[in-house]
Amino acid sequence: MDNIKKLISELTLEEKAGLTSGKDAWLTKAVERLGIPSARVSDGPHGLRADDYSRDDRATMLAVCFPTAVTTAASFDKKMLYEMGEELGRECLAYGVDVLLGPGVNIKRSPLCGRNFEYFSEDPHLAGELGAAFVNGVQSQGVGTSLKHYFANSQETRRFTSSSEIDERTAREIYLTAFETVVKKAQPWTVMASYNKVNGTHSTANKYYLDEVLRNEWGFEGLVVSDWCATHDRPGAIAAGTDLTMPAEDTDHLIVEAVKNGALPEEALDRCCERVLRLVERAVAGRRANAECDKKAAHALAARFAENSLVLLKNDGILPLKKSAKVAFIGAFADRPRIQGGGSSHIVETEITGALGYARAQGLDVSYAEAYDRETGEATPEQFAEAVKAAKSAEKAVLFIGLPDCMEYEGGDRQHMRLPDAHNRLVEAVCEANPETVVVLHNGSPVEMPWIEKPKAVLESYLGGQAVGIAQVRILFGDANPSGRLAESFPKKLEDNSSYLYYIGEGDRVTYNEGIFVGYRYYETKKTEVLFPFGWGLSYTDFEYSDLDVKKTGEHSAEATVNVKNVGGVKGREVVQLYVAPEKVKMIRPVRELKGFEKIELGPGETKTVKFELDSRAFAYWDVEKHGWEVEDGGFEIQICKNASEVILKQKI
Ligand code: BGC
Repeated sequence: MDNIKKLISELTLEEKAGLTSGKDAWLTKAVERLGIPSARVSDGPHGLRADDYSRDDRATMLAVCFPTAVTTAASFDKKMLYEMGEELGRECLAYGVDVLLGPGVNIKRSPLCGRNFEYFSEDPHLAGELGAAFVNGVQSQGVGTSLKHYFANSQETRRFTSSSEIDERTAREIYLTAFETVVKKAQPWTVMASYNKVNGTHSTANKYYLDEVLRNEWGFEGLVVSDWCATHDRPGAIAAGTDLTMPAEDTDHLIVEAVKNGALPEEALDRCCERVLRLVERAVAGRRANAECDKKAAHALAARFAENSLVLLKNDGILPLKKSAKVAFIGAFADRPRIQGGGSSHIVETEITGALGYARAQGLDVSYAEAYDRETGEATPEQFAEAVKAAKSAEKAVLFIGLPDCMEYEGGDRQHMRLPDAHNRLVEAVCEANPETVVVLHNGSPVEMPWIEKPKAVLESYLGGQAVGIAQVRILFGDANPSGRLAESFPKKLEDNSSYLYYIGEGDRVTYNEGIFVGYRYYETKKTEVLFPFGWGLSYTDFEYSDLDVKKTGEHSAEATVNVKNVGGVKGREVVQLYVAPEKVKMIRPVRELKGFEKIELGPGETKTVKFELDSRAFAYWDVEKHGWEVEDGGFEIQICKNASEVILKQKI
């Protein structure tokens, strides 16, 4: 494309206004007379949901459904997120998509958010690092991303009208940080402004957060796109820095009028056009004719990603199962797992490998009982009896349960944290019939487990993508060693969650009264026992930590090294977690915060040294008086932890 400034000078006012809204749901408007083509965007984030433009009905094309963000976050593996991004970038090229609408880095304020499955974590450091790796992976292919939903979009209820009432320190330390990290480390081509308001102003009209914070402070160079139908005032959005309103709108004339009557400076419109044209330019430059993607190979990748992410929550020695064992797989999810959540991210998958099919293909001796209706989660007396019978007649029972689609989806929040009643009753009955029972969970957000003492093991598979059955069977039978760690806390009950009293708000006001005490920052500081802490996950091997060495490298920076040894009998992967704990500080702060993590693989007997670099942000809090980051003088402890509740080694600096 010719020089962008020159092009803008040649556009009519109407054409300029037109460039700032979509042509349809997924395309920007072309200006043929000047040779400006459309750019094409598509959902994401864990696969490609792309319309087939070659068909009249625009049916969604088949694509590989990778594990959802809640699952991949549990890998704690930046390299894996980069690799997943690369593969999605390749798929975008093959499908003619220029921008993938993801990742979502909103913070999980409550286990109830219906869209938690699309987000990474309750922790901003983890969400930011994984989001940055994903964006870098996609964009390495010459395809763009859309970092979403900016910001404080932590509930679905009244998402179009509610205002997240949030104090400045909480916004900076919790809800903005992941966006900041991704912008600074990966420069996503686009950022998506959320539906909700923040402190009374719609995100698409929030000049302070778009122009001041995102662009001026963090140095964002890309384009801001509205979430779909999130713009309420077209000229206002242009003035605030929302460059592109999606999808198509019949409101372009409002911009023309506003410029003509002097309410909107034409330079503001020009700036938006410049960013749209820059996006189109990048899109065109990235396109590759005859690009292809290998769906079979991607299915295998999806299995590997799931294997690296599933979290072994409990194991009283029953796992791994012997391949010679006579095992009953019980539950419809064994045959057809729940692999993703509902809503705009829903991928029409190329295939699904369930645990049952995969286990049988491996020649394992596995019987099956459906146990419940996959869609409703309900069980008839006959299904129930059949499940108990299957459990009794096998040496080991593996019960596949979880949340059905109707309990967890975009556009609605859950009302409670419980599994379907029938699933809870099935756990009790199956464990009673056969004490050698393993529970395998499918859910996009934490669930209560009133029965946790009963099964001998619990494997959390979250919403693990279309190849999750391969990962489940490989882990259950010991071909793979589980290495996922929870990227969120599992409270014992919903009422223990710090947002419980305020979540979903009153009318359109949603006050974030718990402030910075989100997730483990609350549970650990308030000494509230949880079912499973943030960072929790078991392995078939053991790791021993030694020689923590922390050195100051500057006034407010440090370097830490620690040795980790695999002292068990099998190869395994460990997530080394570093937390910073403030000591004698005056500010009210969480007892510890995650500031570094690395995933390493160790053979039996092998030792590796893991190194962390900590800059001043690892120690800082947001000072509302000074309106900036501040490090207090009190002193800090560097803690290497097994999870957010268990410190293994510590050193003061
Ligand atoms: C969702 C976005 C999505 C967009 C386009 C919206 O409803 O909030 O995440 O990218 O639709 O499908």
